[in-house]
Amino acid sequence: MNKVYWIESSEGRGYKKLDRDIQVDYLIIGGGLAGVTCLYLLVSAGLKAVLIDADRIGYGCSGRNTGKITAQHALVYSSIEKQFGLERARQYYEVNDKALELIETLIARYNIQCDFQRMPACVFTQDESYAEKIRQEYETYQKMGLDCRLEKEIPIPLKIRNALILNNQAQFNPKKYIDALADEAVNQGGTIYEDTRIVDFQPGERCTLKTGDKFTIEAGHVVIASHFPCYDGMGFYFAKLKPMRTYAVMAKYDKSFPKCHFINAEDPTRSLRYVHEADSLLIVGESHKVGHQKEDHYLLLKKFGNEVFGIDEYQYQWSAQDYEPPRNIPYVGYLNKDTPNIFVATGFNKWGISGGTAAGMVISNMIRNGSSPYEELYSHTTLMDVASSTFVTENADVAVQLISGKLKSGDTEIPESAGIGRVINLGGKRCGYYKDQDGREYIVDVTCTHMGCELKWNQLEASWDCPCHGSRFDYKGNVLEGPACLPLNRHDQEKNKINPQIR
Ligand SMILES: Cc1cc2nc3c(=O)[nH]c(=O)nc-3n(C[C@H](O)[C@H](O)[C@H](O)COP(=O)(O)OP(=O)(O)OC[C@H]3O[C@@H](n4cnc5c(N)ncnc54)[C@H](O)[C@@H]3O)c2cc1C
Ligand code: FES
Repeated sequence: MNKVYWIESSEGRGYKKLDRDIQVDYLIIGGGLAGVTCLYLLVSAGLKAVLIDADRIGYGCSGRNTGKITAQHALVYSSIEKQFGLERARQYYEVNDKALELIETLIARYNIQCDFQRMPACVFTQDESYAEKIRQEYETYQKMGLDCRLEKEIPIPLKIRNALILNNQAQFNPKKYIDALADEAVNQGGTIYEDTRIVDFQPGERCTLKTGDKFTIEAGHVVIASHFPCYDGMGFYFAKLKPMRTYAVMAKYDKSFPKCHFINAEDPTRSLRYVHEADSLLIVGESHKVGHQKEDHYLLLKKFGNEVFGIDEYQYQWSAQDYEPPRNIPYVGYLNKDTPNIFVATGFNKWGISGGTAAGMVISNMIRNGSSPYEELYSHTTLMDVASSTFVTENADVAVQLISGKLKSGDTEIPESAGIGRVINLGGKRCGYYKDQDGREYIVDVTCTHMGCELKWNQLEASWDCPCHGSRFDYKGNVLEGPACLPLNRHDQEKNKINPQIR
């Protein structure tokens, strides 16, 4: 039943995989919104750029989200104002608003059929303790002069405490948009390779990268837009970003739904939008740290949909992950201060449609003009993050996961039924066991190839998930996402090779 509406709705052109060594001036790793926007902006400015993706364009988080294009990122502005001052909050709004405008301009310029509609965005709370936080966010909006209002009621059947509406935001079908933009970039001279994963990265005046098929790419400038940076370069991104998994369910809904999209401020998240092209309601929420799920999160979303909207039957369900930066502002710009030719875009905190588009704008400006007016906004947090309380808590959890995982020996019994994964003890060795519906058995080494934490089985997605920094592998051992670049070995091969790609 796990299938993604957006991905089914748009086939994509399909690009071949890299089959030789190449030398390029500008290389972009990652065909999500950040990477494809950057590619488009570079080639439309006349630069020769190449984008590679480990999978297919838009199959990452950019094709699995809620499709809201908004500068309203939950309660981000009061938080930025408190930490960095009102001017930074203003800049954050400005760059995300420009991203929305760029998306709208490109849709009009290329006549992209992606169900784009302007509408207000609403953040609400049903929890008394958040009512004041929403009021504070409203005050920050007012200081910034935003077109907004505070409400006590909203036009959906939920009893709320406070709601903050920001006018003139938007929504679309993100996969149709990204496929069309990638096409346009190629039409204008850009090159895309799919099914091509970077597994090794040597920085330098010209960087040398290796693909999974052992081809070499030599590049003058590299933009790492792989969602989680596939090369860390002593930026310690693995220790700063919190990987959060979130779930989505979608159902036919023929009653009227207001022209607005909604999200609550508290946990568990409930994010709602109507998908006009499919006459359906999309409900998203139930976020948790990757590798830490305890419940059937799809079931909880469906229960909510049933109680509030009377929905019994769902046609689509999927999940995705994004990365929380410690202080709400993503990392966009130089990978670190010693790498003027390597750029990174990550940590979009589930707001990377505008955030990833903004990252593409900022990085392409830095490459073309040597700077961007938003460079400081995004680099502001890098040095301070290691001292933040979230950083300390997250890394204490990583230490616990690393040690406790090693102490568990695994089950001695192999599951009889197909479709069930389990950590088993095979001759004293911890292994991951899975039997598919045709009875084929897959037994893999379940030590994460990023930094060696022990993986946990995720029955909802049939994957091996890392509780430390969020890498995920399919039951055959292939990398699905996260910082890990190398696959899991079969139990009868040598032990997994660990490569954190830090230096
Ligand atoms: C459930 C959910 C709902 C969301 N809803 C919204 C929303 O409504 N509005 C909003 O603004 N944001 C939303 N977001 C966030 C948003 O979708 C993401 O922040 C954004 O899509 C990230 O884009 P990206 O380009 O960084 O990453 P991705 O779209 O994940 O693209 C990264 C690409 O890099 C490739 N890659 C990875 N590693 C390698 C490698 N080693 N070599 C080559 N290629 C590699 C991957 O295959 C992938 O295609 C949501 C997130 C979630 C989880
Ligand atoms: S993702 Fe870092 S150890 Fe697994």
